[in-house]
Amino acid sequence: MLVKNMALDKRNESNSTCNKVAVRFLPDNVVVEAEIGKRLLDVAIQAGQLKEEPQEPFCRDGGCYKCEMETSNTQFEEYPLIRTCKYSVPPITEEIQLTKIDQVWSENML
Ligand code: FES
Repeated sequence: MLVKNMALDKRNESNSTCNKVAVRFLPDNVVVEAEIGKRLLDVAIQAGQLKEEPQEPFCRDGGCYKCEMETSNTQFEEYPLIRTCKYSVPPITEEIQLTKIDQVWSENML
């Protein structure tokens, strides 16, 4: 437990100097360092976790729900399903976890 806390503290120091937060995308287990204030939708697209189809683009204003992902982070108002276009990377110290919604539905339907 102590080692884990020390490791977290070291990461927090790093975050405070570079203004980035780790975002982990599941189930692919892809981790990126995202700049605080950047829209989570753009982080997901750049990480290859959400794909924008030219004929059906993301609305980017909360209306289409195509950007919805599940999170384990309770500080998001829409927890556990959030529209990633509605949120920016918050200035937090813990990792953000986002799971593709199609994966969630597949697991729930089995
Ligand atoms: S892009 Fe449409 S709800 Fe997020």
